[in-house]
Amino acid sequence: MLPVSKAPSIPAADPAGTLHRRPRLLSGMQPTADSLHLGNYLGALRHWVELQEGADATFFVADLHSLTLPQDPETLRERTRRVAAQYLAAGIDPERSTVFVQSHVLEHAQLAWVLQCLTGFGEASRMTQFKDKASRDGDGSGNVGLFAYPVLQAADILVHDPDRVPVGEDQRQHLELTRTLAQRFNHRYGAALSVPEPHIVGGTAKITDLQSPEAKMSKSSASQSGVLHLLDSPKVMAKKVRSAVTDTGREIVHDRATKPGVSNLLDIHSALSGVPVDTLVDRFAGRGYGDLKVEVAEVVTDVLGPVRDRALTLLEDPGALDEMLADGAERARATASAVVARVTQRLGLLPVPGTAAPEASAAPDSVGSAR
Ligand code: TYM
Repeated sequence: MLPVSKAPSIPAADPAGTLHRRPRLLSGMQPTADSLHLGNYLGALRHWVELQEGADATFFVADLHSLTLPQDPETLRERTRRVAAQYLAAGIDPERSTVFVQSHVLEHAQLAWVLQCLTGFGEASRMTQFKDKASRDGDGSGNVGLFAYPVLQAADILVHDPDRVPVGEDQRQHLELTRTLAQRFNHRYGAALSVPEPHIVGGTAKITDLQSPEAKMSKSSASQSGVLHLLDSPKVMAKKVRSAVTDTGREIVHDRATKPGVSNLLDIHSALSGVPVDTLVDRFAGRGYGDLKVEVAEVVTDVLGPVRDRALTLLEDPGALDEMLADGAERARATASAVVARVTQRLGLLPVPGTAAPEASAAPDSVGSAR
């Protein structure tokens, strides 16, 4: 059995305008692979684990986002639970933090529609991830969902009133759009949405592929041989690290421009071992790339091996995971429905029969400020 919280639901953002409350955090990941990878872990997940202490944190599995590509239904169900299991295995505490599946909280899609009606066609066309993905398809098979994806992401965020959104570097532009849309809504209709800050930590914000160290480590890379999966066996992980592409020359120095492969390995080592990069560079002075790889492989398997074991154990009891996710969805809905009620009231949509109209003045404390 998983520990399932019966704690009171998270309080809605402070309508009185005081800042005497815990910061609110939100983030999510797509269930588009059988496992999360080291970039997801170092760029986002481990920060979530640290930040959940002292915050009201909400983490979800972005299953609706995955539908922008064709998915096999059975595989999607399995991958959705796998992502949730990896969150918990990495240290997300479902008693402390709210963990849920995006499609279980209908308000995400509801707010997305409203925000789509505020997004310019050109604005959506400029999103680099959309341009990359659409051009990868090349044959025009990209769909409207792919185009509207960043707007759904904005809704995911704004519907939970967070102060901060911990993500990797590749999400920066989406966070900018989110802030723009919140400000636009507030300007046009009156304050109803918080304007959140991205939380992007340098050093690990872009972990690169071990085989193509100039490219981001990605779930969708054509070859997964340079992608370290959290659910890879320690043997496979060590092998992938040992086969990492390194750079010309022999010296172990940190310089992303001229030595992307070695710098990536140093960043990975440092992030997992806690040893500063400069100390590692001194320690490896006069030694070869092979020595560095052996040590990185050790650090990676030491930290990720137990995460993998815990995730596999959690996955043995899908019923308990589902129960935890159901509890999370209920808690998430409490905030999301209050935000949507505020938004619909501002827009002039009639309140859903049987629900109380929100106070016209009820708006989160951060509304309208760029902070
Ligand atoms: P996704 O699933 O691609 O990635 C999940 C998180 O991992 C980070 N990340 C990386 N960080 C460092 N190095 C890498 N190589 C690397 N690859 C991925 C991502 O920046 C992200 O933080 N659109 C999002 C999912 C999403 C979302 C949201 C996130 C949907 N709605 C609302 C935050 C808030 C995505 O596809 O992430």
